[in-house]
Amino acid sequence: MIGTGSMAGGLLMWLWLWLLAGPGGAVWPQPQHVRVWPGSSSRLVPARFRFGYARDSAVGPGCAVLDQAFLRYWRLLFAAQRRPPEYEQLWEMSCNELLVSVTKPGCEDYPNMDSEESYKLSISEDSFLLTADSVWGALRGLETFSQLVGRAEDGTYYVNKTDIVDFPRFRYRGLLLDTSRHYLPVKAILETLDVMAYNKLNVFHWHIVDDPSFPYESAAFPDLSEKGAYNPITHVYTPNDVKLVIEHARLRGIRVIPEFDTPGHTLSWGPGAPGLLTPCYIGSKPSGAYGPVNPILNSTYQFMAVLFREVSTVFPDFYLHLGGDEVEFTCWRSNPEINSFMKQMGFGQDYTELESFYIQRLLDMVSSYGKGYVVWQEVFDNGVKVKPDTIIHVWKESVPYQHKMAQVTKAGYRALLSAPWYLNHISYGQDWLAAYKVEPLQFAGSSEQKALVIGGEACMWGEYVDATNLTPRLWPRAGAVAERLWSNETVRDLQDAYYRLADFRCKLLGRGIQAEPLFVGYCDHEYSRS
Ligand SMILES: *[C@@H]1O[C@H](CO)[C@@H](O)[C@H](O)[C@H]1NC(C)=O
Ligand SMILES: *[C@@H]1O[C@H](CO)[C@@H](O)[C@H](O)[C@H]1NC(C)=O
Ligand SMILES: *[C@@H]1O[C@H](CO)[C@@H](O)[C@H](O)[C@H]1NC(C)=O
Repeated sequence: MIGTGSMAGGLLMWLWLWLLAGPGGAVWPQPQHVRVWPGSSSRLVPARFRFGYARDSAVGPGCAVLDQAFLRYWRLLFAAQRRPPEYEQLWEMSCNELLVSVTKPGCEDYPNMDSEESYKLSISEDSFLLTADSVWGALRGLETFSQLVGRAEDGTYYVNKTDIVDFPRFRYRGLLLDTSRHYLPVKAILETLDVMAYNKLNVFHWHIVDDPSFPYESAAFPDLSEKGAYNPITHVYTPNDVKLVIEHARLRGIRVIPEFDTPGHTLSWGPGAPGLLTPCYIGSKPSGAYGPVNPILNSTYQFMAVLFREVSTVFPDFYLHLGGDEVEFTCWRSNPEINSFMKQMGFGQDYTELESFYIQRLLDMVSSYGKGYVVWQEVFDNGVKVKPDTIIHVWKESVPYQHKMAQVTKAGYRALLSAPWYLNHISYGQDWLAAYKVEPLQFAGSSEQKALVIGGEACMWGEYVDATNLTPRLWPRAGAVAERLWSNETVRDLQDAYYRLADFRCKLLGRGIQAEPLFVGYCDHEYSRS
């Protein structure tokens, strides 16, 4: 399915080895194939341990993605290490280098939908070797390696003899943050990207603006944030902030897909863009309230053309998320000019036709900028004509989402699943289990249809979330989604998942992440504010 061609040959042997050795090596998300040799391990001496490029690697020093990852992972591994213990010299025989070999030349600029993320990790007494087709796969392997390193009771670091062959089940493994309902400081976003990388998640869906506030600072339309942000100085994302987020993500193999949701969810756009929103009426008079974007004015499209041209340049990913959800028709219905336009266009009373009229033009515009797009499922539900390569984002739970996944893929579109993964919904008890039990391909459809499911996305909507509770609410719960999207579909043992996820959560605490507990228990190193 995903670039496993070069590995197919070794697969049979792997199966055999697996049966011999059994599973092992607590890694989250569970790698595709793991073999651990019990009782055989090597020590790591922090003062001498290093990451390096193998001699046959097509990528070498100067590749920022890996150079910086080496530094990061060294610190993550040995952060607790203050001073090298006296007895380190005794370990002359210890293996002190993880060599990374990337087969394809080129330190790719940005990860994309087709990026290769497979890797092989071979840890033995006399060598540690990580091979990957691309730097992105090497990043995933470095994360796995970092999770394999343990600490013995005497404080020394060690790693068990282990072989891993790994690749993602789905190519799109996303997380949505909502920075409109509450502003999230850049620091909180960067930390979220860090933890996404620990979970091998690879798409940050930035729901950057919405009704309540418009924190994106636009170069073309500075008034949007000047008048639409909660505070135009402190609660905005400057062009520099946006660059910082994109670069932080890139260095971790994470794509950034921004969402500028229209024509609904745009109230905050109004003050900074006079004439953009539809005036609502009571009887024959404007009520002073505003509704969705006004789809009947040429000026609306002129505005969108400029804004989306800017957004298309600022965000390098091929895809933009164009929203299109929950368009409220009451205001359009109240407005006499809208109604006469409806008559003129022959739309009758069907306001979804008007919505489609708008979305269609928007999609054409964005296509003409050389971008692809993701839209919420309503765009599909309302029969908008979209390009065949459009990604339909399934989020509604009212119709069983399995039914919608079947419909979307039957129509030949690619589907992205979020409906069962609204992690902003919380409940007492272990609610990660519900997210974990989901099987994205469990719907009635052909194998061609299943192949159109590109992955899924955990959503953290911001009504009740800001920087105070973002991290504990996300982690380790979003890890359940991460494993579902990365690991083999047969990895479903809840007991085993519980132990590994609880262990992973302790690792997160060790990395300074305020991840909440799953259930009763403790970690060797509890969280404390640094
Ligand atoms: C190494 O292997 C031993 C024995 O199989 C196991 O108890 C231990 O948890 C493993 N350590 C790590 C860091 O995986
Ligand atoms: C809007 O643009 C169309 C085509 O470009 C034009 O025919 C129409 O007159 C314009 N409407 C207004 C109100 O300017
Ligand atoms: C997933 O696991 C099953 C059972 O071990 C195996 O038959 C299948 O080939 C695996 N899938 C992939 C893509 O490796």
